[in-house]
Amino acid sequence: MSKYQFQQSDIYQPGTDLPINRLNIGDAEILQEVEAQLLQQAYQTFVFELRADTRFDEAYFQSLHLRTFESLYAWAGQYRTQDMVKGGSMFCRATFLPNESHRIFAELEKEDFLRGAAAWPLDRFAGRLAYFQSELIALHPFYELNGRITRLFCDLIAMANGYGPIDYAKALQTDPEVDNSYIRASINCVQRADYGLLQTLIAAGLTPNEAAA
Ligand SMILES: Nc1ncnc2c1ncn2[C@@H]1O[C@H](COP(=O)(O)OP(=O)(O)O)[C@@H](O)[C@H]1O
Ligand SMILES: [Mg+2]
Repeated sequence: MSKYQFQQSDIYQPGTDLPINRLNIGDAEILQEVEAQLLQQAYQTFVFELRADTRFDEAYFQSLHLRTFESLYAWAGQYRTQDMVKGGSMFCRATFLPNESHRIFAELEKEDFLRGAAAWPLDRFAGRLAYFQSELIALHPFYELNGRITRLFCDLIAMANGYGPIDYAKALQTDPEVDNSYIRASINCVQRADYGLLQTLIAAGLTPNEAAA
């Protein structure tokens, strides 16, 4: 546990949605660019570190957030201690967050971290991955970067099973003319506990390694 609990007011620069950061970046585009570079480096590091016996447990999940963003954010790797709402969705209440997280990762461990999924039909793997991703979407444990770290985590599980990273490109488009189906899928997960659309997106984005090469 941390020696210091972060409040939402410690996270953002006053009057903005830009997080306070160690590089004192006050420009949204530059911050996005730095985050993108850190995330890209993280993919290389964590893929390199993948082992047949990698445990995709809670400590591993938190370490992805910590190690990806600790050079930029003081609160990297730490769960939020305040409730959060986004676009009408209420994520897991902060008081229940630690227990709820333990439950999710206990379930994942009970399913042996989806090891052996390389031998399953793609749809079965997509279904279990969508279930756990939907639980993490509803948990929304960090103040920021939940989407990226949750998808990194699931990409690493996919890669441990011989798939390439999941391609969400179409679903994540931010063009206002295009329906952003990843957000729709997330709303279904958080507001209705329905991960059907997310499963469809994951199944479409899973690429066997041979085809991805
Ligand atoms: N209206 C919403 N309802 C439910 N979930 C949402 C909503 N908007 C965003 N999300 C979820 O929150 C994630 C974004 O969380 P955030 O912490 O900002 O991460 P990032 O900065 O990496 O996108 C999205 O990927 C999606 O899963
Ligand atoms: Mg964000």
